[in-house]
Amino acid sequence: MISIRVFFICSLSLFLAHFSMAAKVTLDSSSWGLEEGKSCVECHSKSSSGLTHQWKNSAHAEANVNCLDCHQAYEDDEDSMEHEGSIIAVIVSPKDCGRCHETEFKQQEGSVHAKAVSIIKNRMPALTEHFGSLSINDAGCAKCHGSEVKVKGDGTLDPTTWPNTGIGRINPDGSRGSCSSCHGRHQFSKAQARHPSACTHCHSGPDSPDKIVYETSKHGMMFDAHKDAMNMSNDSWVVGKDYSAAPTCVTCHMGAAGKMKSTHDVGMRDAWNLNQAVSTQQYLAIFEDGDRRELSTSEAIPRRGESIRKMDGSIAKIKAVASPKRRRNAMKKVCLECHSKNFANNAMKQFDNVVELYNEKYGKPAQAIMKALYADKLLTPSPFDEAIEITYWQLWHKGGTRARHGAAMASPSSTWEGLSEVGAVFYGRFLPQVRTIASPEKSEALIKKYVKDSEHHDWMNYPDRVSPVFDHEEQVDNKGSNNEN
Ligand code: HEC
Ligand code: HEC
Ligand code: HEC
Ligand code: HEC
Ligand code: HEC
Ligand code: HEC
Ligand code: HEC
Ligand code: HEC
Repeated sequence: MISIRVFFICSLSLFLAHFSMAAKVTLDSSSWGLEEGKSCVECHSKSSSGLTHQWKNSAHAEANVNCLDCHQAYEDDEDSMEHEGSIIAVIVSPKDCGRCHETEFKQQEGSVHAKAVSIIKNRMPALTEHFGSLSINDAGCAKCHGSEVKVKGDGTLDPTTWPNTGIGRINPDGSRGSCSSCHGRHQFSKAQARHPSACTHCHSGPDSPDKIVYETSKHGMMFDAHKDAMNMSNDSWVVGKDYSAAPTCVTCHMGAAGKMKSTHDVGMRDAWNLNQAVSTQQYLAIFEDGDRRELSTSEAIPRRGESIRKMDGSIAKIKAVASPKRRRNAMKKVCLECHSKNFANNAMKQFDNVVELYNEKYGKPAQAIMKALYADKLLTPSPFDEAIEITYWQLWHKGGTRARHGAAMASPSSTWEGLSEVGAVFYGRFLPQVRTIASPEKSEALIKKYVKDSEHHDWMNYPDRVSPVFDHEEQVDNKGSNNEN
């Protein structure tokens, strides 16, 4: 009896502690507010006074965390420099913030965000080289994905690699990312980071068209009309409890819902990978050191206790596995704060159906044909030197991504715009290009096997059939003329 009551009180106080307190800070307050740091404020109130003002309005200034508490460095840090009598570094890395905010640091460091440089490095260097040069990387790709920051001999930072606040930036201390990707400095406000613009700064354009997707969804519509009712500055920000007017990106991908806590691992609740030529569902393997890796359902299923390769190539033991179903359920927990179970399930069904349609009708056939052309050496291995490779990329990457993201996040216009582009590119450019690359026999055999024999493209086998649209228009016309008579 007693133990149950103790348990109840403990969990209640934990519950309250979680939802009513501000940021949990790992260090004790006696270890910050460095005396030497006070001179920084004085002098920087004259020089670059704007950033000092921003700091003065921050939770950090209020808690007495000063410039040096963040910017302090050790002499043997690669990027340390002597500045007005103190040893400082310009870069305050996630690891530096993590001295005080360990939970957020660990979640961020294990997430796909922290790996955003490796996906550029390993998967698509040709895109940068063929369409641009290193300049587009420095001012484009790297601004979102992150740079590899280089330090010059005197501790100052190489201008081709910094300023940069890309989401997976490789820091001189080896940590990944930059907390000011979302928390603009020097206020480092959580209210500002809850705003969709903290995400759409990067999540817009061909790689991730979520800005337009969100704005044209009913969620975006409701957010736009009811921003002021969102309690964005509340310490506690649990959907359905502290706000309910609309979900933002953060609500669905990071936010607290019911007993589910807020997380800095943005990929946790995604069941699919929506940015590949063919979408697959994804397991999430969580390693003993907290690092994580996504594995497609088409690979071997990861098991607890097993050792596998991490994203960085090293081998590590799996501590836990989240199946696509568990990840989907986590996402649905959010929906259920505002919608019924049936509504949420049906909405997910409509989304999954679009992914299947895209995969089966376009993604898989196009991928199989490309593989056959490569296997027959009708294309060079280089990914962007032939017209059909650019066509293929537009098909899955631009139109295909837009359609799938649109369906995931309830934007009918993006779903249709994306899928109509996929269709137009597939029939209007991709198939005709296949015919110019392979011999007539070879191309017809490929198109028959992967396209015409599929129920999705059965209509292509009846070139003389009167189209249903035409029928419909004729009926309307007939009726019209009947009425006139
Ligand atoms: C992808 C964007 C993003 C990045 C990157 C990011 N944050 Fe956050 N952070 C947020 C959002 C959004 C919130 C508010 C979350 C909520 O209320 O559910 C937040 C909240 C916080 C809070 C307040 C937590 C609380 O319980 O009050 C701290 C502390 C924090 N972040 C630290 C960090 C640190 C340290 C890093 C780098 C390791 C970081 N953040 C990187 C978006 C981000
Ligand atoms: C006597 C005045 C003075 C003091 C004291 C001072 N700074 Fe500065 N700091 C400057 C000036 C001036 C600059 C150069 C500004 C510019 O480039 O526009 C500067 C530049 C910087 C830079 C940018 C360096 C770069 O390479 O981009 C950082 C970071 C910085 N200070 C942090 C601090 C910190 C932390 C302290 C306290 C330990 C501090 N400053 C103390 C005057 C001061
Ligand atoms: C909460 C930690 C934190 C505090 C407190 C802090 N900074 Fe920074 N500061 C950062 C981060 C993060 C950056 C971005 C550097 C990077 O990682 O690219 C930065 C960048 C800078 C820069 C160079 C970038 C620019 O925009 O010019 C200067 C100068 C600077 N800080 C000065 C200061 C001064 C002066 C104070 C005190 C008034 C201060 N900082 C307090 C975290 C902090
Ligand atoms: C020396 C310890 C320390 C360091 C280093 C530090 N913080 Fe903080 N941070 C704090 C304290 C203390 C608070 C206030 C806690 C509270 O909310 O009462 C805080 C609050 C926050 C908040 C919540 C702000 C809000 O709007 O309520 C965010 C976000 C945050 N920190 C991010 C960062 C980031 C990003 C860095 C690194 C650039 C960083 N912190 C470095 C101690 C630190
Ligand atoms: C505006 C920010 C932004 C810019 C600029 C940008 N990306 Fe991306 N990129 C993203 C985001 C966000 C994603 C994640 C998409 C997702 O998972 O939904 C991504 C995903 C990717 C992917 C993986 C999946 C895919 O869509 O192909 C690759 C590879 C990639 N980007 C390469 C590049 C290269 C190379 C450049 C420069 C030529 C570049 N990106 C420019 C934001 C950007
Ligand atoms: C500075 C750029 C940047 C910002 C800001 C940013 N992201 Fe990302 N995000 C990326 C890139 C790049 C990727 C692709 C990373 C990869 O695949 O390794 C990505 C990937 C993602 C993914 C895909 C995860 C998966 O399962 O593949 C989600 C979801 C996401 N971000 C949500 C958010 C949210 C929510 C915010 C705002 C709170 C945000 N991002 C802010 C650049 C950014
Ligand atoms: C109503 C909830 C909701 C909102 C609001 C929302 N998303 Fe999503 N998002 C989803 C769902 C559901 C998926 C698909 C998850 C899956 O793969 O099963 C998704 C997928 C994504 C992906 C692709 C991840 C993947 O699986 O490849 C990215 C990136 C993303 N969202 C970013 C954002 C950004 C940025 C915003 C705000 C502009 C946003 N989302 C707003 C629910 C939401
Ligand atoms: C904070 C509350 C909130 C959350 C959380 C939320 N929604 Fe919504 N959703 C709304 C509101 C409000 C509307 C607009 C209702 C209306 O008037 O049609 C809406 C509309 C929709 C629509 C459009 C329906 C239509 O009529 O076209 C879909 C689909 C949808 N939500 C799916 C989801 C999914 C899936 C999730 C979880 C991933 C989710 N929502 C999470 C509040 C929310």
